[in-house]
Amino acid sequence: MTDVVKVEIEGKSYELPVITGSEGEKAIDISTLRASSGYITLDNGFGNTGSCQSGITFLNGEEGILRYRGYPIEQLAKKSSFQEVAYLLLNGELPSQADLTSFKTKITENSILPEGMFKMIEQFPSTTHPMGVASSMFAALTAFYPEYVTKTELNSQEMNALFCQLMGQAKVIISQFYRKTQGLGPVATNGELSYAGDFLNMMFGGETGKEVSQAVSDAFDVLLTLHADHEQNCSASTVRVVGTSKVNLFASVSAGINALWGQSHGGANQAVLEMLEAIQQDGGGYQKFINKAKDKNDPFRLMGFGHRVYKKFDPRATIIKEACDTVLEQLGVSDPLLDIAKGLEEVALNDSYFVDRQLYPNVDFYSGIIYRALGIPTNMFTCMFVLGRLPGWMSQWVEMRQDSATKIARPRQVYTGATTRDYTDLSKR
Ligand code: CMC
Repeated sequence: MTDVVKVEIEGKSYELPVITGSEGEKAIDISTLRASSGYITLDNGFGNTGSCQSGITFLNGEEGILRYRGYPIEQLAKKSSFQEVAYLLLNGELPSQADLTSFKTKITENSILPEGMFKMIEQFPSTTHPMGVASSMFAALTAFYPEYVTKTELNSQEMNALFCQLMGQAKVIISQFYRKTQGLGPVATNGELSYAGDFLNMMFGGETGKEVSQAVSDAFDVLLTLHADHEQNCSASTVRVVGTSKVNLFASVSAGINALWGQSHGGANQAVLEMLEAIQQDGGGYQKFINKAKDKNDPFRLMGFGHRVYKKFDPRATIIKEACDTVLEQLGVSDPLLDIAKGLEEVALNDSYFVDRQLYPNVDFYSGIIYRALGIPTNMFTCMFVLGRLPGWMSQWVEMRQDSATKIARPRQVYTGATTRDYTDLSKR
């Protein structure tokens, strides 16, 4: 097996080590290339660049495989709870019953916010996008936990404590902003419920008297599991990159929330729903939208379609599509948008434009229909992704901080601007 490759540049040969991952993935380690040859590599969007070695999530986009710590996503979605998955991502092993109980207790104990945080949430206009609130509020936590702001090195115990703290506080931040927009006060956490059940109760319970059924909270728990990690995606990479500067976890997660917000990433779930509504308002014909997505002069893309890594199918989308039917049936909801989504998918999957480019529905294509059925406002969909992805971000951050190979992220560039010029005085210009 090759463990070095030779690269020839301007007639000179350089040997570069080959790194092999546990699933046989190959990488050329170019870390000495510039020092020895003067050359760097250029890779827009990092499609061919590994930024780290990681033992958390394995993804094979050609085969549609996704595994957390070796466990297939299909098994985890069927058999485990979201909190079990969060524990697994952080610790590398599934928890024992005692481990899980203690982990859940810590999250429940932390499902509270300092009074000052409630006051800040209250100050946001109700029209503020909830992702802006979430990212601001995660950064604002630094005001209340200064011990983590000044401390750049954390031991495992402190990292574990922070992990549970943020999983607890995320539920309160997101649900409380929603309740504020409805003129409602907070609903206290209930440790008897699952993570998803507790969150939904904090959103919709209390004075509104809305009961969240077991079936609904189970479906939401599965959605959170499906979003829990996705290796070096845009937001996880952001969390890692920001964290390499040794800034605290609150600020790193806040940055990750901002990265997730964009519609090429997590913001696609909101954009999909808005697209389906636009199709409905337009009379339900898909072809006009398909044509728009194919038109290279039109920036419109079919939202919820395509993925940088998946080239056959997104295994998360397969599970969500099935869950969609079940959840709608259990809730007794018949959503015409689901029919539009299914019809649109069928047309796109039979269109050579999408086939040739290997564009398939991704995790965001059907998730919004479930969120909508659960009564989550459209502009809060991406916050649901935040709740799900939080353990992944934090596990990636912990791994990065514990890895002795970590260096501050500082890419190079190929400069294409003006070459040296002489300054001309203002009066002469
Ligand atoms: N609709 C129409 N054309 C598309 C789409 C789409 N949704 N996605 C990609 N293409 C075309 C693109 O125009 C390009 O065509 P050509 O080769 O003729 O120039 C080709 O497919 C390759 O696209 P790309 O932009 O180079 O691919 P990428 O890997 O950089 O982008 C993506 C991946 C997810 C940003 C993109 O597929 C997209 O914009 N999808 C819609 C937004 C979306 O659903 N995002 C959620 C991603 S999954 C959730 C998550 O984990 O973040």
